Amino acid sequence: MCGIVGYIGDLRATDVILNGLKKLEYRGYDSCGISFLDSSKKEFTTYKTVGRVDLLINSFDYNVENKVGIGHTRWATHGEPNQVNSHPHSSSSKRFIVVHNGVIDNYLELIARYLEGVKLISETDTEVIANLVEKFSQTMSAEEAVRKTLSLLEGSYALLIMDNEEVNKIYAAKNKSPLLIGSSDKGITFGSDLMALVGNSEYYYLIEDKTFIVAKTNGKPDFQAYDIIGKKVKLDQHKMDLADNEIDKGGYEHFMLKEISEQPAVIRRILAKYMVDGKLKISDEVKAKFINKKRIYIIAAGTSIHAGFIGKYYFENLTKIPTEVFIASEFAYNQPLLEKDGIFILISQSGETADLRACLVNIRQMGYPSLTITNVITSTLAREADMRLEIFAGPEIAVASTKAYVAQVTVLAILAYSLAKEKSFDLGFELSRVSIAMESLIDQKEYIEGLVTRKLKKRNCFYIGRGIDYYTSLEAALKLKEISYIQTEGFAAGELKHGTIALIEKDVPVIAIITQKNTSHNTRSNVHEVKARGATTIIISLESVADNSDDIILSDVHQMLAPLLSVVPTQLIAYYKAKELNLDIDKPRNLAKSVTVE
Ligand code: M6R
Repeated sequence: MCGIVGYIGDLRATDVILNGLKKLEYRGYDSCGISFLDSSKKEFTTYKTVGRVDLLINSFDYNVENKVGIGHTRWATHGEPNQVNSHPHSSSSKRFIVVHNGVIDNYLELIARYLEGVKLISETDTEVIANLVEKFSQTMSAEEAVRKTLSLLEGSYALLIMDNEEVNKIYAAKNKSPLLIGSSDKGITFGSDLMALVGNSEYYYLIEDKTFIVAKTNGKPDFQAYDIIGKKVKLDQHKMDLADNEIDKGGYEHFMLKEISEQPAVIRRILAKYMVDGKLKISDEVKAKFINKKRIYIIAAGTSIHAGFIGKYYFENLTKIPTEVFIASEFAYNQPLLEKDGIFILISQSGETADLRACLVNIRQMGYPSLTITNVITSTLAREADMRLEIFAGPEIAVASTKAYVAQVTVLAILAYSLAKEKSFDLGFELSRVSIAMESLIDQKEYIEGLVTRKLKKRNCFYIGRGIDYYTSLEAALKLKEISYIQTEGFAAGELKHGTIALIEKDVPVIAIITQKNTSHNTRSNVHEVKARGATTIIISLESVADNSDDIILSDVHQMLAPLLSVVPTQLIAYYKAKELNLDIDKPRNLAKSVTVE
């Protein structure tokens, strides 16, 4: 969703900011803008555009000395995506300039109470912030005016504010929306995502909610953080361990294909990280929290919830603890009856999904233990839960999640296996087999591209499966629809005949996933049913349950781990269909990588 970058230092600010905004493009946005101090004029210049950062770069001239600035990519919430609504926003007199991520819930009340007679030109809640600061600055210092404004805001925000009367300063503040600070001897960078800091920051600092920051250049660029009551606080410094080459396409045409191809290596990396003395191990602290638990509750959204379903299967089969899976946005406001001795697992690639954060607040209030499984160990959900497990997928840039899903399922398997009293197989060995099988499958990707061209010709499609294959069908359907815009449903194979089979007509593609011995026969019957009604079928099966005529036969792996392998051809099907349709694969329309509003 929205992205923020700000810079103050010795480098050309517009270079740092535009470069940072490019790195945040993957989060999804519809318009963008930048304000910077033109050193010769000693005032801020603002450029904005609807569309991509490249347009912002190519449409304007940045060839002036400038060392302070703020930029933004906007994913519309209040008001349509147009130039007026895009950030940065200025106060009426143009003194204060603001970029903002998040949603101010009480902005209409604030207008009514404090801004009577002020002409607002946009439909955004952000413009209200700029004008509140301006209003209060008439009777107090700018810094006090910013603080007073912050004390009135209800909702979520990551904010950067500049003042035309004190041009060598940036004010920053955060509540619920992510914001980080990067530093090097060349300057201070603000970013709503670690990616924005890569390449120009040697260190980074995480910011707690309700923290207020003043960054300035008095000779040396520096910053000071303050807590809610204005007391100075010291932020923990972390060494930046990401380099530019870890977040580029590495020769691939799209990030999505690169990330699909990285999956075997991701499994090996996870094995290395969780292997202690030749045994897969989860920390004793995490294990202890599961002792005597009668229920495991998993909460997630999108792709992560599909990983959660597979997790349920693992926990119930390996630990015998009944496990329930909830959609985050539902759980947050429609809470089911809960078992007293329960434990919550939140699964989130980004660790910033607002729907999940709303759940975590409730979970903590009720006193339940919580564990976040995430790819971003510095994220809000990782920091706010009692415990955290990292999935080590590496930066995932494509909006469509692939390697993070595989990594989530792998870590869930390791967690369930570690908690299991009896271990009837060697999970480490079996996961290594999966990574090898994945590699040879990915090597045959051109075959899958051909299959897509021949068989996926309609504007709708079905994935079917039973048990864990049904869960994979849900994930496969989400992948195909989100990047190819083909209406796709993942269906429990046996349920199709209870209504939805009415939609099957000539050439409608039905893709069946068959990896489990106990249900393969039944799913094959369902394939016959749709074939008889004209469907074009593709069968993805595991070697041990395969028929020679199946379209994609996966090398044998442990049946429990089959979802890790069977999801790969479905990712490739989605990728090649979107490619054939010439769509923006890495940045599909209307979607954001990290969904930071509820
Ligand atoms: O970062 P999270 O795992 O919490 O994100 C959840 C969903 O927004 C995400 O999985 C989304 O569904 C992806 N676009 C799927 O590819």
